[in-house]
Amino acid sequence: MAGGPSTPELAVAVGRAGGLGFLAAGYKRADAVGSEIRAVREATPAPFGVNVFVPTPEPADPDRFREYLRRIAPEAERQGAELGEPRFDDDDWEAKLALVCAERPAVVSFTFGCPAWDVVDRLHRADIAVWVTITNVEEARAAHAAGADGLVVQGTEAGGHRGGWLSDGSDEGGVGLLALLRTVSHATPLPLIATGGIMDGAALAAVLCAGASAAQLGTALMLAPEAATAEAQRALLAEQRATRVTRAFSGRPARGIVNRFMSEHSATAPLAYPEIHHATSPLRAAARRRGDADAFNLWAGQAHELVQARPAGEIVRQIADEASAVLERVAGGRRVTRPSA
Ligand SMILES: Cc1cc2nc3c(=O)[nH]c(=O)nc-3n(C[C@H](O)[C@H](O)[C@H](O)COP(=O)(O)O)c2cc1C
Repeated sequence: MAGGPSTPELAVAVGRAGGLGFLAAGYKRADAVGSEIRAVREATPAPFGVNVFVPTPEPADPDRFREYLRRIAPEAERQGAELGEPRFDDDDWEAKLALVCAERPAVVSFTFGCPAWDVVDRLHRADIAVWVTITNVEEARAAHAAGADGLVVQGTEAGGHRGGWLSDGSDEGGVGLLALLRTVSHATPLPLIATGGIMDGAALAAVLCAGASAAQLGTALMLAPEAATAEAQRALLAEQRATRVTRAFSGRPARGIVNRFMSEHSATAPLAYPEIHHATSPLRAAARRRGDADAFNLWAGQAHELVQARPAGEIVRQIADEASAVLERVAGGRRVTRPSA
């Protein structure tokens, strides 16, 4: 969970509880990610993963976003900030690849795109498992062809950015997790890591029944003390509030709790990532500082109201224990064991 919530402390707590903690490399420079990797290693011998953003292939035509910047300029003024430069960059891609190949975390997961097969090969030669986030069957096939070891299957329920790259970038629709798990199960033999709306053990049990090997939690961990979630967002996460997918904050579709900025700017927001991300970054940071939850991105999944304010390790253990109990109940009270080989 780049952009705030993910911290080394969160990855450590998840790893100590028997989960696979992740560091978020997105938006950071490679050297900062390196420091976080060292912090995790000093705290625990547990394996962990690093999540990397695949760069957008080419810059957006400035004609596509000029008018939008004019529209949102008063928002920056209202926060006592200025719009940032709508620049294109690759999020320090090469340096991050070099870093992970040197540091060798157990897993590197990618979002916003599929790494080319030679990148996957480089990671494999460093003994790193490669996971690719997908949101439709076409992306699942492409990731399989590129040599991915696992697919992070992201349903439309998910909080934060849509991790796919082959959709039309519209901010509507998207495939639900159950339908996606089943269609992808038929399309590729890869292990599936389900993500989107998984907040408790019943949901974990459901995705395991639907063909997933594991689940990736997002929103469920956002109120943990180890997460660096913005205070103004913490106050809203446990409330019953609508979410929607919008390009308004970053120029890329992402799901969050509906607020004023989203309502006023979603209709005109262009598809232009990372340009719009950089342009709105100072105004969002100012709104966060001022505690104005109407003017920054409140990323959250559709089931966010089930979030718990507890240590991350307790949340992970509880969800795993609940899932075992649910699976046992569904199996008619018989203990659920792995089929013998
Ligand atoms: C605040 C926030 C930040 C996120 N940042 C990332 C990220 O940096 N990389 C990534 O692959 N997914 C990111 N996601 C998506 C999650 O990996 C996951 O797919 C999503 O949270 C699942 O839905 P849930 O929030 O309903 O559990 C983020 C999600 C949230 C809520």
